[in-house]
Amino acid sequence: MKQMTTEEIKNTFLDYFQNNGHLVIPKSGIIPKNDPTLLFINAGMAPLKDYFLQKTIPPSKRLTNYQDCIRLIDIDSIGDSYHGTSFRMMGSWSFGDYFKEESIELAFKLITEVFGFPKEKLYATVFVNDGTLPGVPDDFESAEIWKKYLPADRIIPSPPSDNFWGPPGDSGPCGPCTEVFFDRGESFGSTNENKDILISGRHIEIWNAGVFMEYFIDEEKNISLLPQKCVDTGAGMERFAMILQNKNSIHEIDQYEIPFSYIAENVLDLKWSRIVFDHLKTSLLMLQSGIKPSNQKEGYLLRRLIRRSLTGMYLNGCDLQKSNDFLSLISEHLEKPTGAYVKDEEVVSIFSNESGLFSKMLKRNKKYFDKIVAEGNLTGEYAFALKATHGVPEELVRELCNKYHITFPEDDFLEKMTQHKEVSKK
Ligand code: ALA
Repeated sequence: MKQMTTEEIKNTFLDYFQNNGHLVIPKSGIIPKNDPTLLFINAGMAPLKDYFLQKTIPPSKRLTNYQDCIRLIDIDSIGDSYHGTSFRMMGSWSFGDYFKEESIELAFKLITEVFGFPKEKLYATVFVNDGTLPGVPDDFESAEIWKKYLPADRIIPSPPSDNFWGPPGDSGPCGPCTEVFFDRGESFGSTNENKDILISGRHIEIWNAGVFMEYFIDEEKNISLLPQKCVDTGAGMERFAMILQNKNSIHEIDQYEIPFSYIAENVLDLKWSRIVFDHLKTSLLMLQSGIKPSNQKEGYLLRRLIRRSLTGMYLNGCDLQKSNDFLSLISEHLEKPTGAYVKDEEVVSIFSNESGLFSKMLKRNKKYFDKIVAEGNLTGEYAFALKATHGVPEELVRELCNKYHITFPEDDFLEKMTQHKEVSKK
């Protein structure tokens, strides 16, 4: 495999598609324009939805770019080596031009000949309907095409829950997809009891090498055909870099090494260091794009990310003041999102205001948290009082319990919440 910087990976991807007749288009911002079905751009194709629907004509039938994406759906997986709440997606598209045959050929050649991934470490998944998506046939065609490049036992049938992509948001273009996985080897996990061929953490999806966009799903979940057959691909730039640079996680690649190491030196726990880095990085993208912490929609998601990163620092004995330094250091190493209009000073001021309020809440309630840890026990009543009387977010109490292996009193807590709601109704 070729050792490459993240910048080289990006340029290699774009040059390859440009040399194969694709037009390089600029990335969009992270806030969708005229798309109420989405809070954030979550894939390279999201800003291009109208091209699939033929509502607007693309500048070329073949396009490529890289795009900042925010995907909060993965939030519970952050801390492992390969999930992030934000990442950059390298993508390529065909709008009514080539379809499965050329798409798979383009993918295979780029991965093996240009990036040098060894063929014997690659797997491809193909869509096979388990009956959960009526009307969409199995994708035997892609399986047959892959047989030109990979042995049959490395072409893995996969159900709609894994291999039907889209729509991004409540409605839009979608289709069966074929994904390429790279085997990082035995040290990342050996065959499990279920004899799964693809083991999470060991076999990493490096490229959704083709969503074969043929369908449209509307808000009532009706499925119909798109006016044209299209291809949508997406590869996480950080995942490519993790593998080609032989790094332990997407947070530790060349471009993020300096801010990540500084955070890790202060937070110490590896999983939490990744969470703190990831959440601050995504918060920064949001703040730079003009989102402010609030109790609604995007603002609420930003608030939760900031709070969780501070929670991670707090639980690991890291000085909360350091969050400002962490943010500034990330900012020095992160490419700004397109359309950023918020000045750095304003970003810093909004962040320190929000983090300052949360830090105060943490300090104010430290005695209660210490008591829970000292007793190694938490009652529903106590958890409820923390939330209702002291304004401690439930999520924080759960994280505290997790860290100290204390059982969260689910049933009692729920009972107290229900009683409270009943009383408030009266
Ligand atoms: N839109 C596809 C994805 O995000 C390529 O995986």
